[in-house]
Amino acid sequence: MPGPDTFRAAAHAYDRHVGRYAPALGSALIEFAGIEPGMRALDVGCGPGALTAQLAQWLGAANVFGAEPSEPFAAACRERVGVEVASASAEALPFEDGEFDAALSQLVVNFMGDAPAGVGEMARVTRPGGLVASCVWDYAGEMTLLRAFWDAAGEVDPERAAAADEGVVMRWCGEGELGELWEAAGLRDVRTGALVVNAAYADFDDLWAPLPTGIAPSGAFCKSLDPEGQAALREAYRRRLGVGTGPFELAARAWTAVGTVS
Ligand SMILES: C[S@@+](CC[C@H](N)C(=O)[O-])C[C@H]1O[C@@H](n2cnc3c(N)ncnc32)[C@H](O)[C@@H]1O
Repeated sequence: MPGPDTFRAAAHAYDRHVGRYAPALGSALIEFAGIEPGMRALDVGCGPGALTAQLAQWLGAANVFGAEPSEPFAAACRERVGVEVASASAEALPFEDGEFDAALSQLVVNFMGDAPAGVGEMARVTRPGGLVASCVWDYAGEMTLLRAFWDAAGEVDPERAAAADEGVVMRWCGEGELGELWEAAGLRDVRTGALVVNAAYADFDDLWAPLPTGIAPSGAFCKSLDPEGQAALREAYRRRLGVGTGPFELAARAWTAVGTVS
């Protein structure tokens, strides 16, 4: 399964790829989770800080902390949002029991090496009665950008694409799976749902540009192809999206879960 190594990249490449959806998704997650002013919150796997920035706007930067294993992303989050970010993975959070009123993670659970341990840690650092909330892409369905990417990749290199397709290899990304993880972690009053957000593109080149840099599992697959393979992928992808030189928007769905610490 693709790991954090595919995120050891420049934050601006992430911003132009999946990060384009992240601020709107962060707002939707905060609303779904019921985060309220006065809370102290932790953003686990904060990346360059899209959800962190939304939390800081809502709660004040002094009440928001991040944890992130990728150094370039942790540094970008510190600089952009002005919050403390621990260089740490979800599975070993360097915080005391019950330090936070809420622990959130956005698009991270499926990248954890040990998701039950990571969610267990999120619950441990949250006080009894506090909230643990996450969301993950619906890679197999309505995350249009990535679904079309892997379908196009399957045209170009079926065997390697099948082995890397996030709709197949990512755990906890089917409808209801996050909820099962939350229940198994002992969280109560678990609610699940779907968050749908949009991103705008100037044209297909604007969408394609970050992929050859190797950002995220999709970019890593793109970068691994020779120039002819990349050109074939680019054309199959553009055709599947049905877009070209003009502006367009894509929708993306994420599954979400929130629960309360007992
Ligand atoms: C798709 S990005 C999401 C970043 C950010 N949360 C956002 O919404 O833009 C996935 C993030 O998870 C981080 N990550 C990967 N494995 C992790 C782990 N075991 N614990 C915490 N974060 C992890 C990556 O470094 C990366 O920043």
